[in-house]
Amino acid sequence: MNPIKRCAVLTSGGDAPGMNTAIRAVVKVAAQKGTRVFGVENGYDGLIDARFRELTRSFDERPERLFPPAEIDRIVRFGGTVLGSARSSRFLSVEGRRKAAKALSDFDGLIVIGGNGSLTGAHALATEHGISVVGIPASIDNDIGCTGTSIGVDTALNTIVEACDRISDTARAHRRAFIVEVMGRDCGYLAMASAIAAGADGVLFREQGRSEHEVVLAVEELICRGFSSARNKQHVLIIKSEGVQIPCTRLVKSLERRLETVLPGVEIRGTVLGHLVRGGSPTYLDRMVAGRLAYGAVESLAAGASDEM
Ligand code: F6P
Repeated sequence: MNPIKRCAVLTSGGDAPGMNTAIRAVVKVAAQKGTRVFGVENGYDGLIDARFRELTRSFDERPERLFPPAEIDRIVRFGGTVLGSARSSRFLSVEGRRKAAKALSDFDGLIVIGGNGSLTGAHALATEHGISVVGIPASIDNDIGCTGTSIGVDTALNTIVEACDRISDTARAHRRAFIVEVMGRDCGYLAMASAIAAGADGVLFREQGRSEHEVVLAVEELICRGFSSARNKQHVLIIKSEGVQIPCTRLVKSLERRLETVLPGVEIRGTVLGHLVRGGSPTYLDRMVAGRLAYGAVESLAAGASDEM
């Protein structure tokens, strides 16, 4: 007997490709188990304001039989999140969390789809208010503990690699060096993994702990080595994680100044991929990861789990 009759689901923090796939899977699996699912609009902000909409439907002739409506069924391949997301400052306060918990008084459980901050919020609801909460790790950054790959990482990496391949084409045509900056807040995973897959000449990430001067020197050496007569490369590609504090434009300017005399004629360009990397249809892997995690979350909630990911 499934004790979860009514369950809420929300997406929070930075969206990630595959969040919609996870929402759909939560609705499908829960419906099968007889659980009505209510989506919360705009993450914890919407929870505080009790903004719910039902995502399951029932057959007129057999109201106990639930199913996902067509508009939920089709979101399996859409980027972003149909529920909307937010970084809620109100939820950071004790009062905000109290209101959020009150809004859940008619529910038997909550599923939170999001990254570190969102899952920390889920933990607070479970420990401070005794709400049954299960988290699903979703963030392109891949910075969530105890998780090999979170929802969105594979799609983001494929987008970065494709962008780098395109940039490399034009870079080779002009014999240029490119610095490509990728998201990842405090975590260099996207930069490191994409650098390997894109065949980059170098990678810069915050965890290296380099000063600005050391970063400039390291990149200068990579460019000089790449364009040396021995290597004679047609382009040099460096991937930089956003966590490395030096802005792309300043890095490019410093390098231009330093290389003016050593490598005359060689041009350096910078490209910040930014939010481009967060959108797009989820890949096969992200859809599979999202589907499996959602299945696990619904099953765990039904089995009595709480404060778990
Ligand atoms: O956490 C995901 C992420 O995309 C980070 O890589 C990035 O630093 C941040 O979100 C950007 O947040 P926002 O969309 O609020 O600017």
